Amino acid sequence: MKIAVIGTGSVGGALGRGWASAGHDVVFGVRDTGKPEVRKIVEESGATAAGVAEAVAGADVVVLATPWGAVQGVLETVGNLNGRTLFDCTNPLRPDLSGLDTGGASSAGEQVAAWAPGARVVKIFNSTGFNNMANPSYGADSASMLYCGDDPAAKETAARLAADLGFDPVDAGPLSAAVLLEHLAMLWIHLAYRQKLGRDIAFKLMRR
Ligand SMILES: NC(=O)c1ccc[n+]([C@@H]2O[C@H](COP(=O)([O-])OP(=O)(O)OC[C@H]3O[C@@H](n4cnc5c(N)ncnc54)[C@H](OP(=O)(O)O)[C@@H]3O)[C@@H](O)[C@H]2O)c1
Repeated sequence: MKIAVIGTGSVGGALGRGWASAGHDVVFGVRDTGKPEVRKIVEESGATAAGVAEAVAGADVVVLATPWGAVQGVLETVGNLNGRTLFDCTNPLRPDLSGLDTGGASSAGEQVAAWAPGARVVKIFNSTGFNNMANPSYGADSASMLYCGDDPAAKETAARLAADLGFDPVDAGPLSAAVLLEHLAMLWIHLAYRQKLGRDIAFKLMRR
């Protein structure tokens, strides 16, 4: 599958590396292809890098892995995503991590859908730390990856790509559940930093 990952930071880097090593065709969408960090990740992962609009053109899946404040501009840069699968991994965090600020929208995921009309938006890879995206294994268990969206085919793709990284994918329902996943991210941050549990923690849905 051809995957355009916008951002080569903690999240974009972990996802892109993981999917490239699972055999996917990964292209990072970046502002500066000559930046040393970008060249390094391209060399190490076997992925490629291109300008944001170029990376998105022809990709089966577009992955937003930038700070929340950059998302609207990125979506304006890439243009029409009607009918395209778009993963929103962002969290609209206040700068001091004290909470979420969507600027009045119900959730960042729904705001992304409003900014990208017709895109098949899936909220995913926002509710755990990037270290878990690089390695979701906890002994014999794997961390859950909750996702939500309104398009069944896009959600199927999301589940497959989460499983390719080693996650246990969990369908959390329609895109209106994005607010829950964004608050789940806040809980993870609270536990990791305020409660000092550290980043090697992950949520797991138990079933019986
Ligand atoms: N860190 C985590 O554990 C974690 C977990 C779950 C979700 N998230 C969410 O995931 C998103 C990314 O977080 P991160 O920790 O990966 O951030 P990060 O390490 O700071 O990386 C951000 C990336 O976005 C790129 N970027 C910024 N503005 C851009 C623009 N206008 N156009 C194109 N690329 C742009 C940056 O590229 P440049 O090098 O050009 O600046 C960088 O590659 C955030 O919304 C965050 O809330 C983070």
